[in-house]
Amino acid sequence: MKKPLPQHVAIIMDGNGRWAETRGRNRTFGHLRGARVAREIIEACSKRGIENLTLYTFSSENWMRPLEEVSFLMALLSRHLKRERANLVKNDIRFSAIGELSRLPPAVVNEVNETIRATAHCTGMRLTFALSYGGRQDILSAVKLMVAEGLSANSIDEKALEARLQTAGLRDPDLVIRTSGESRLSNFFLWQSAYSEIFITPTLWPDYEAAELDAAFAWYQSRERRYGRTTAQISRANNENQLA
Ligand code: FPP
Repeated sequence: MKKPLPQHVAIIMDGNGRWAETRGRNRTFGHLRGARVAREIIEACSKRGIENLTLYTFSSENWMRPLEEVSFLMALLSRHLKRERANLVKNDIRFSAIGELSRLPPAVVNEVNETIRATAHCTGMRLTFALSYGGRQDILSAVKLMVAEGLSANSIDEKALEARLQTAGLRDPDLVIRTSGESRLSNFFLWQSAYSEIFITPTLWPDYEAAELDAAFAWYQSRERRYGRTTAQISRANNENQLA
């Protein structure tokens, strides 16, 4: 029996700058192309029936880039959301955003909120942009919330912390894809990807395409997810599920 597709795919879109620089162009040229690829991959995931897609669009640490590049990315994000809104609705995609959104320029916050509002009725894929997002910051703010709420040490468990993460209500990613060959998480979903399958491709994000996505899905379907248990335990559980 063929294994199911991942229900939550999270992508670290990396390599825009290098892609542009190897062509003798400004890094912003790579981001422009990257946004176009993001649109194609969003549609491809939705067409394949993926339930949740999260894109690591701007990290907490990306604020340290040169002001010119940050401003370009913010303007690109605003424009992208404005332009794509109707497409998202057409494809029944529900948009959401996680991260320290208050750090974003008001124009971006407006577009984010408008896109959330316009797609709130959609029932297909849930698309989440991680914006000004950092895994450590996410965990820290959940801990601070628990302290502020006066939770006792005994009542703090995984569930209590997860309920206070930015991703509360969103299942953990089954598959994390990173482009550009770097094998690190770069402060993305540190808690949430504890048991994710991680697929790294050397392809730079502006060259990424749906065929690569299918290859990553096929690889995912070949994996045995054991969550710390043994192969024998997993096969026994699968057999019992099939009989039930
Ligand atoms: C990584 O390339 C990319 C980012 C800074 C974040 C992702 C942004 C985009 C794909 C463009 C905007 C997207 C949308 C959806 C509007 P990099 O600059 O880190 O590349 P490098 O590692 O080669 O320098």
